[in-house]
Amino acid sequence: MWRIARDSGELDLNSPYSYVMWCRDFSATSVVARVTDVRADGTPVGFVTGFRRPQAPDTFFVWQVAVDEAARGRGVARRMLDHLGDRLIADGCRFLEATVTPDNVASERLFRSFAVSRGAALERSELFGAEQFPGDHEPEMLFRIGPLPAH
Ligand SMILES: CC(C)(COP(=O)(O)OP(=O)(O)OC[C@H]1O[C@@H](n2cnc3c(N)ncnc32)[C@H](O)[C@@H]1OP(=O)(O)O)[C@@H](O)C(=O)NCCC(=O)NCCS
Repeated sequence: MWRIARDSGELDLNSPYSYVMWCRDFSATSVVARVTDVRADGTPVGFVTGFRRPQAPDTFFVWQVAVDEAARGRGVARRMLDHLGDRLIADGCRFLEATVTPDNVASERLFRSFAVSRGAALERSELFGAEQFPGDHEPEMLFRIGPLPAH
């Protein structure tokens, strides 16, 4: 996961320790996609890390999502979100949140595609302005999707 985040070209890279700790304590709200084709080598090609907001447990926040460049455009990220969405809706979640920087078209399309497929509304607002970060950092726009229908 650390390697995929490092090579993503977009994400803020967290420490290796934070990824192993995330897998220890937040595996219920995270997912890793592995290659299981004819090579069946199980190589990880994507991940989603997330958490349920402590003060709003019906809301699942996607912290990071990334897919290896070679595996992009094949629905891997959508399938990871669908998998997590199904798991968390069954466990009582009704909203998905994530932040997206304004120029990240792929990420925006991913979350819009998820919202449309679930028949859910998507609200967009600024969560953190550029001035809240050190150095050059774009604003982080909050995407809030929901209510998500239970099956
Ligand atoms: C964002 C990212 C995870 C998408 O992964 P992916 O597996 O290629 O996405 P998918 O193939 O599942 O596509 C999901 C939807 O987004 C659209 N999409 C994906 N990449 C796109 C691009 N570069 N331009 C336009 N649309 C794109 C797809 O067409 C699809 O829409 P549809 O369901 O309406 O057809 C990937 O581009 C990535 O890792 N980017 C770098 C890290 C990053 O920016 N993470 C998000 C930070 S919030």
